[in-house]
Amino acid sequence: MRREKKMETILLSADAAGIEKAAELIKNGCLVGMPTETVYGLAADALSDEAVAEIFTAKGRPADNPLIVHIADMEKLPELAEDIPELAYRLAERFWPGPLTMIFKKKDCIPHITSGGLDTVGVRMPAHPAALELIRRSGLALAAPSGNVSGYPSPTKAEHMLRDMNGRIAAVIDGGECSVGVESTVICFENDSTVRILRPGGITEDQLSEAADKVIIDPAILNDIQEGQAVRSPGMKYQHYSPAARVVLVEGGYSDFCRYVNENVGDNIYALVFDGEGGGLSVPAVCYGCDEAQQAHMLFACLRDMDEKGAEAVYVRAPEPHGIGLAVYNRLIRAAGFEVIQV
Ligand code: TXA
Ligand code: MG
Repeated sequence: MRREKKMETILLSADAAGIEKAAELIKNGCLVGMPTETVYGLAADALSDEAVAEIFTAKGRPADNPLIVHIADMEKLPELAEDIPELAYRLAERFWPGPLTMIFKKKDCIPHITSGGLDTVGVRMPAHPAALELIRRSGLALAAPSGNVSGYPSPTKAEHMLRDMNGRIAAVIDGGECSVGVESTVICFENDSTVRILRPGGITEDQLSEAADKVIIDPAILNDIQEGQAVRSPGMKYQHYSPAARVVLVEGGYSDFCRYVNENVGDNIYALVFDGEGGGLSVPAVCYGCDEAQQAHMLFACLRDMDEKGAEAVYVRAPEPHGIGLAVYNRLIRAAGFEVIQV
């Protein structure tokens, strides 16, 4: 899928000069790697067919998978979306800027290429100061999918973005490590008081319940989509977040995990375990945190690290699928192509 290198990708610092340069590039129709609090995004003018087409090409992304549009000020929302329920304003009040994407009926200004042919648009106000500054300085709404090559784990550091996009995009702003580490929670509105979570992320079910009467978790979050089955969010259909290494999610206690892994050793096999674990294993172990928030923060970097190590396969300790752990679990079952072992 890798194309020939076409351009030099410049690394910009997240200071006024760097962000100004990035804003100029975006105004000229170029693509820029943008740090957000969730993951790095691949940003361009959301209302430009040409610039958005470049995003799809750079990522190798299926054309029917819509992009999230990023704003920095509430006044922009009604310019992009229609029929905005009162509940959306309450959620925005609580969770924006932050890791929540809300889906609305789109206004005509949103090109079909941005919405993946749907009549809706997902909008988010990110919390990273460099992202907010970039959006404001460009004066535009920015379409930004995660900055990885389609199907690969999302980037949570500037170096990940460069690894995937060097030579394909104009610049990357180095805004440091992403604090959350998994993507935003994507929701749609069932009615004036009910939201449906289409993708779990940085804002949890419990947090949403503080503002909405009812929160539905879409079944596709924890289950594989069968061929031809209708989905509410096109991203649910595709295999995602997968390193080259085979990922196997192993659910159960630690001693059973060790027994299973030790019975299935081979060349270049690794284990991804919680902090403090690793003893009793006959393969090298990498730790990815001691609670769900840390696991979210570290997951994608650890999966990428497996490829750096040349891992053939990695057995992963399953996180608790609650709170932000639901997002970690959702990413892992997809990275594993739904290969989940109960021990
Ligand atoms: O945290 C994030 O959301 C990051 C940062 C960069 O903001 N962005 C991100 O974008 O994760 P992406 O394109 O990798 O994932 C967006 C997901 C996809 O699964 C897509 O199908 C879904 O959101 N989505 C976007 N617009 C939608 C819409 N109008 N209707 C249903 N699903 C939508
Ligand atoms: Mg993505």
